[in-house]
Amino acid sequence: MLDHLGQTKRTHSCGQLRRENVGQTVTLMGWVNSYRDHGSVLFLHLRDRDGITQIVFNEEINAELLARAQAARSEYVLAVTGKLILRDEKNFNPNMSTGEVEVLAEELKILNDSQTPPFEIDNCKAAEDLRLKYRYLDLRRPEIQRNFKLRHDLALATRRVLDAQGFYEIETPILTKSTPEGARDYLVPSRTFPGKFFALPQSPQLFKQLLMISGFERYFQIARCFRDEDLRADRQPEFTQIDVEMSFVQPDDVFNAIEPLIVEFFKVAGVEPPATPFPRMPYSEAMNRFGSDKPDLRFGLEFVDLSEQFAGGAFPVFADAVKKGGAVKGIVVPGAANWSRKQFDDIIEHAKRHGAGGLAYIQVLEGENKSALTKTLGAEGINAVVATAGAKVGDAILMIGGKWDVVCNALGQVRLEIGRREKLINEDEYRLLWVVDFPMFEYHEDDKRWYAMHHPFTSPLEEDLGKLESDPGAVRAKAYDLVFNGNELGGGSIRIHRSDVQAKIFKALGLSEEEAREKFGFFLDALSYGTPPHGGIALGLDRTVMLFAKAKSLRDVIAFPKVASCSDLMTDSPSAVAPEQLAELKIKTLA
Ligand code: AMO
Repeated sequence: MLDHLGQTKRTHSCGQLRRENVGQTVTLMGWVNSYRDHGSVLFLHLRDRDGITQIVFNEEINAELLARAQAARSEYVLAVTGKLILRDEKNFNPNMSTGEVEVLAEELKILNDSQTPPFEIDNCKAAEDLRLKYRYLDLRRPEIQRNFKLRHDLALATRRVLDAQGFYEIETPILTKSTPEGARDYLVPSRTFPGKFFALPQSPQLFKQLLMISGFERYFQIARCFRDEDLRADRQPEFTQIDVEMSFVQPDDVFNAIEPLIVEFFKVAGVEPPATPFPRMPYSEAMNRFGSDKPDLRFGLEFVDLSEQFAGGAFPVFADAVKKGGAVKGIVVPGAANWSRKQFDDIIEHAKRHGAGGLAYIQVLEGENKSALTKTLGAEGINAVVATAGAKVGDAILMIGGKWDVVCNALGQVRLEIGRREKLINEDEYRLLWVVDFPMFEYHEDDKRWYAMHHPFTSPLEEDLGKLESDPGAVRAKAYDLVFNGNELGGGSIRIHRSDVQAKIFKALGLSEEEAREKFGFFLDALSYGTPPHGGIALGLDRTVMLFAKAKSLRDVIAFPKVASCSDLMTDSPSAVAPEQLAELKIKTLA
């Protein structure tokens, strides 16, 4: 038999009561987190979003009340009134914020019962698929609830900090025309124009630029974005950006606007904020030293360039790589001279998985150095490499040769893997970095054409404009990423504000004038009506929350996320729709 709330009013949350409240009569409402029934005494943990409080039902005080409470099961919803008492000191629970007190129950209302949940809410060990099917229960878990409190606080801080800097929050359409951010679009069929489609925005890129043309000067939006791409722990098909655009700015102005926001995030998350300005590093340096455009600076293992060492030398693979304009790079791993054969083999496999043709190594030992390269280079050749690399006895040198980008990327992945395996990363450290001067274009071998590395509205560096046709690969862009502990937190650029430069970029991307007009005609027209110089950035809000919450996956900070196959296990979507709905849209499916 269920009770009604009636006039019962909650006086406190389940995380609120402390020693100072002892003696007060309190009313709590929440879910049964757990219970221990000793027959004549029942201890019940009542949970709400704020915490957990222990409730005691005692036969000696009220036998009828105890009997009713004994009927309650996990996740029943209760209202309990009683007196707050101090626990015996030996029963203090240091793991609970309310662990020194308990409520001696005097009244109980069972507001709702619950089916037996498919998994325990607290101390949940259930597989993620099961948890996501019952996401509304999964979201009751205290650690997940904390993530959403943090998410709320960070979103609020965003509005506070950007408002104080004169930004307007403006919404842009969800039903729109495709903008090229590099992923596949989600399409929405039009009923009124059969055969035509809206695209869901991959980001509000063109709209925020249009808002600058409209004269708003400083825009931001906590914007939902949609990208149909392969999912990973740090990627969801729908995600949220803190999207920012500003007029009359250079990269420094964008950095100066964003750094205070990041500092505020640290304060909100209760972490010592980093010093400003954040360090900056050109893309080429990040690649050459760490093999990544988002280097994790929490540990060393920086690359040493061994190209000169191997140029024209006896080891044909490396000599060849250098001759063809490639590179040989190495990292010195302290203590790795004594790795087992298997440890080296695993690292070689790792390098190969990330594109390297192979990986050579030298074990720097007392008296002699061990390496498969000794056969070709001789002991002296090996000693010379050891000296150039600055390795000491006990170290190992891992080396990869080949095309520059392949070497950087593969050795960068090896560096990260060793960082993880050897536990070189201090999880309590936070390192921020602006990576700047990205290349404007990247070449895709599969369809043999240039693509915009950031997006085609990014401005090239003025001094590189002359190379647009002759050497597109060498053109650098006014593009930057904000990197946080090896993760790309955000990216942005100064935009092209002149239609003639925009037309040149489209041409360099192999887009004919007609194609450019068809895709972006409205935007090219807009550019020709007095566009101010402008630029901006977008930070991934989900990624920001994930990093501050130290969560392993974006799924732990998005209320209703998708799984890797891009489906929602709770609503069972995507799903078939009624034939009439398809008929109305004039759509026939082939599947
Ligand atoms: P970009 O594509 O670099 O830039 O995205 C900006 C930031 O958004 C986050 N992000 C994602 N988060 C979760 N899941 C995803 N699938 C995902 N994709 C991106 C990342 C990333 O750094 N319009 C430009 C910004 C600009 O130029 O101002 C843009 O969208 O944290």
